[in-house]
Amino acid sequence: MNPALRADFPLLERTLDGRPLVYLDSAATALKPRAVLAAEEAYATQMTANVHRGKHALSEEASVAYESARKRIARFFNADPECLVFVKNTTEAINLVAVGLCLSSDDVVLNAGGEHHANLVPWMRRARVELVPGDPCEPVSLDAAMAAIARHRPKVLAIGHASNITGVIQPARALCEMARAHGVITVVDAAQSAPHLPIDVEEMGCDFLALSAHKMLGPTGVGALVGRREVLEALEPLCVGGGVVERVTATGYTLKKIPYRFEAGTPPISAALGFAAAVSYLDELGFDDIVEHERRLAAALSQSLCEIPGVEVLMARREPRLAIAAIAPRSALVGPDALARLLSDGHQIMVRSGFHCAHPLFDRLGLEHGALRASAYVYNTVEEVQRFGEVLRDLASRMVV
Ligand code: ALA
Repeated sequence: MNPALRADFPLLERTLDGRPLVYLDSAATALKPRAVLAAEEAYATQMTANVHRGKHALSEEASVAYESARKRIARFFNADPECLVFVKNTTEAINLVAVGLCLSSDDVVLNAGGEHHANLVPWMRRARVELVPGDPCEPVSLDAAMAAIARHRPKVLAIGHASNITGVIQPARALCEMARAHGVITVVDAAQSAPHLPIDVEEMGCDFLALSAHKMLGPTGVGALVGRREVLEALEPLCVGGGVVERVTATGYTLKKIPYRFEAGTPPISAALGFAAAVSYLDELGFDDIVEHERRLAAALSQSLCEIPGVEVLMARREPRLAIAAIAPRSALVGPDALARLLSDGHQIMVRSGFHCAHPLFDRLGLEHGALRASAYVYNTVEEVQRFGEVLRDLASRMVV
């Protein structure tokens, strides 16, 4: 990756205590390039009008820009723009599907890959959830997934495409093919994968794909649900009100066609324009280069975290994988929160700490104190990752973690 791209990210110019910072928390939210900030600013300074609600010049311009953003983002995923719904984030997208499918408590949702709350709790509220068993540092085995489908006869297979904790990437295409051959609806949580891997929904063969813009260099407050036309048309909206109706009488209403029937109220217009700028930026970088850069970051991370005393490292053991690792201290004396604070305040290194929205995974592994997590992205360097490893090793050697 060309190191000059770091100049595109204003936050990297910031210092803490006079020193440059190392941002290793991109799985929580990514930094935003100037192109994204400029797109949002252009809306605020040049258009600021609501969309699909007026005929004046600014409203027309805003509506055209908003629909162009939808088309640009749909092209990024090789999707039909009419099948791309703007949502708040991945969590809202999965809630929309979980509610919209009108599941009953007798229905089973099978979860493959990760136990992230966004892809778990919305299903738990509506149905019975079963997990495909497996090692969190390895992709699920297709045999185990097939056995779970045969055993539980699920209505839905909810796939966590890439883990926000270990960086494991699931074989989403093979899982979707298997599930669909058995009449199972497939929902892919691409929150962690879409920033790092090229995704073509046609090729993946999923029924639904859910993702957030803010993890892929875009603004917070916007994401997308991409659905296969037939399944999307059959979905009940999560929210109704202005913007989703063709006609309202004193006693009832008729809904607009997809995708508008799912976008109640004023949508996140400025964020959608920033989202389109983010995918254009990623396309300009090119996924061949992104994947290769992150392969090197992941290798450096794995090597830097090798044999640090007093900690357990959770990271995908094999490629392809994301440059993400969780580090769980074995002792409670210095927990992940305290370590994150030491890294931040003493060394200007930003990493996340806690249970990473995946309590069941930590319960299953018996890691009761949670973990630190480092997650790298396009703007990180191998040297930054190595520095994190060195500082952590030094802290570990000076205290019982
Ligand atoms: N799920 C996001 C993370 O992993 C917020 O940090």
